[in-house]
Amino acid sequence: MSSFQTSPGTRDILPPHAGRWRALIQVFADGVESAGYQNIIPPLFEDLGVFQRLGDATDVVTKEMYDFMDKGGRHIALRPEHTASVCRAFAQHRPTPPWKVWYSGPNFRYERPQAGRFRQFDQVGIEVLGVDDSQLDVEVISLGWDFYQAIGLSNVSLVINSLGDAGDRGRYIEALGAYFTTHSETLSEQALATLERNPLRVLDSKRPQDASAIAGAPAIGAFLSTDAAAHFAAVCAGLDALNIPYVVNERLVRGLDYYQRTTFEFISGSLDSAQNAVGGGGRYDGLVEDLGGPATPGIGFALGVDRTLLACDAEECFSYGFPALDVFVIDTTGGSYALSITHQLRHSGFSADRAFEGRSMKSQMKSADRSGAQVAVIIGDTEAEESTCTVRNLSTSEQTTIPSTELQSHLVSVLGPRQPRRHTP
Ligand code: HAM
Repeated sequence: MSSFQTSPGTRDILPPHAGRWRALIQVFADGVESAGYQNIIPPLFEDLGVFQRLGDATDVVTKEMYDFMDKGGRHIALRPEHTASVCRAFAQHRPTPPWKVWYSGPNFRYERPQAGRFRQFDQVGIEVLGVDDSQLDVEVISLGWDFYQAIGLSNVSLVINSLGDAGDRGRYIEALGAYFTTHSETLSEQALATLERNPLRVLDSKRPQDASAIAGAPAIGAFLSTDAAAHFAAVCAGLDALNIPYVVNERLVRGLDYYQRTTFEFISGSLDSAQNAVGGGGRYDGLVEDLGGPATPGIGFALGVDRTLLACDAEECFSYGFPALDVFVIDTTGGSYALSITHQLRHSGFSADRAFEGRSMKSQMKSADRSGAQVAVIIGDTEAEESTCTVRNLSTSEQTTIPSTELQSHLVSVLGPRQPRRHTP
């Protein structure tokens, strides 16, 4: 065993799993880019204040932040999520709204590690800034829904709720606080502590002791303003029009404090209930302003890559295999001839790997078979002297020796045409 291991709550994403990971992000990117969202790459760390806003009493912000003083005396935090960074970027750069962006990358939360809950975890997500229209809420939710369909997950359900406008939310939190205070004798110690900080989060308790008090708690629906209620009804109607199934759950509270109006979660029925949220999001109309920008409506979601792939494992979907190589170059000469042949192959667009260290023909043939390549190009002393190469079809074992100047056209006739590897804007 090596003397160092990964820290608790972190893991190495090894090959071939990392390839599957990247393929998942590609499916996501293709889906949202085709709906007009452009990629944004915010920094991994920000001033603590970007995430820690006044009055935010959620665990993510109060307990789980990886924060530290840097050598310049700045109070820094590793990002626990992307949304606040995107809003900070909007406030800083003032792009023309509507601003539709997508992202992918790691986030850091000092949580208790367990299956599906990590201290470093990845998300893919989208955010739209500058549009106050219920039709956009439907677009955003539908893009999350479509992504799960695209990767073949079928056991995912959509849960939605409205937290109302800032005033509605405030009145609701007050009513909840009063209600839970009158039921404090039935609440667990943990729920009582949560009640002190944020009555809304008591609704999130999964402790059996808290279940009956939660069941009788007032529901947000009765506190929605006329506008917020109309907005929510329009979102539901839009989802109906798109035939996207959903469940309204008035007890849905999210783990971050900036939400107003529409909130939603995607729940996997194939994961353990404690970590079954594979994604979530909602509206956060006051956040850009809180971060020093102009009053700007915002909505988005983030999907957990780690959990989504765990759900794919459970449902046996989105399988991945490393794409087979075109060519494996075998070199028994140890000279630069094989080096330049391999180089040329790659330039002409063939995927090609090779053996090193002048190992025996037998061992290099084994490596060629293991690589999954369709063709081996064999360079021995004769080939090197005569500027030829021997091309072996690894499935039929047929082989032929040709001048190296004909190698590319020969491979095109066997493997089909390839595009030279060059960036085309
Ligand atoms: P969130 O609900 O905190 O929302 O995280 C979104 C998703 O990230 C979760 O549903 C889950 O799949 C995954 N996730 C969260 N924490 C962990 C963890 N410790 N380990 C593994 N996966 C995790 C947000 O982050 C908001 N920024 C979403 C959003 C975007 N709201 C508006 N726009």
